[in-house]
Amino acid sequence: MSYILIDRAGKSHFISDATKNFHTKDGFVKSSDLCDDSVGKEILSSKGKPFYLIKANDSDLFSRLKRKPQAIMRKDLGFILANSFVGKNSVCIDCGTGSGFCSVFLAEHTKKVYSIDVNPENTEIAKENVKRMNLDNVVFLNLDFQMPIDDDSIVSKKVDLVVLDIPQPWEAIDNVLKFLNIGGFLISYSPSVNQVSHTNAKLLESRKFIVLKNSQLVEFPWKITNQVQRPESSILLHTAFLTVARRVLE
Ligand SMILES: C[S@@+](CC[C@H](N)C(=O)[O-])C[C@H]1O[C@@H](n2cnc3c(N)ncnc32)[C@H](O)[C@@H]1O
Repeated sequence: MSYILIDRAGKSHFISDATKNFHTKDGFVKSSDLCDDSVGKEILSSKGKPFYLIKANDSDLFSRLKRKPQAIMRKDLGFILANSFVGKNSVCIDCGTGSGFCSVFLAEHTKKVYSIDVNPENTEIAKENVKRMNLDNVVFLNLDFQMPIDDDSIVSKKVDLVVLDIPQPWEAIDNVLKFLNIGGFLISYSPSVNQVSHTNAKLLESRKFIVLKNSQLVEFPWKITNQVQRPESSILLHTAFLTVARRVLE
């Protein structure tokens, strides 16, 4: 059983081994307090600092996944889910896999995810992350999605959503057309606006998609205490642009 030990300020520690005392800078918490009986109760460290114990859930596991390539952040993952509305009967393609954050997130919400990456090293990291999340509905494919794919059978049936997080998404549009259902969504995630321009141009040129929107999401966290009420001092203003398109033509 894994637990989260959390203090009043929200600083949390992941406890993977509850058989040992857990040391913090505010003293240690006895292993005898790291058990189901302590969940929902205040625990005091050896220095008298109050902590709370909760059982680790999927959100906690997700926060601790191994990360190598830049991963899509939660705010943008939420946008992908809300805009495509994929659910328990949906099948998706996620390309590129990277560390697998998007694949894991989609796999939590959908029936099956085909996770595609040209780099086998990244696929290995993503496989490990999928295992840590106890998921069995991700199929990994090592291939270059910016090059023509002749073998249609890599995906057993057409998918409801394709997410592209690769350097030249516009080069992958012909492959997207091979695998995406009519009515299905393409969501392309690109850090740079020149990538967005190229992708839009290619989507319009194909005449098979309607571009619904090109969006940028900014999460603006604030610090709220009795004394201080202002935006947090370090805010990540830009992650990427998200292009949402819908396939309308065969
Ligand atoms: C930024 S990472 C993706 C991160 C991922 N979306 C996540 O949330 O963890 C970009 C990935 O795209 C892969 N990639 C780059 N070009 C590709 C291509 N032509 N076909 C497939 N994958 C590609 C890279 O190897 C890299 O792993």
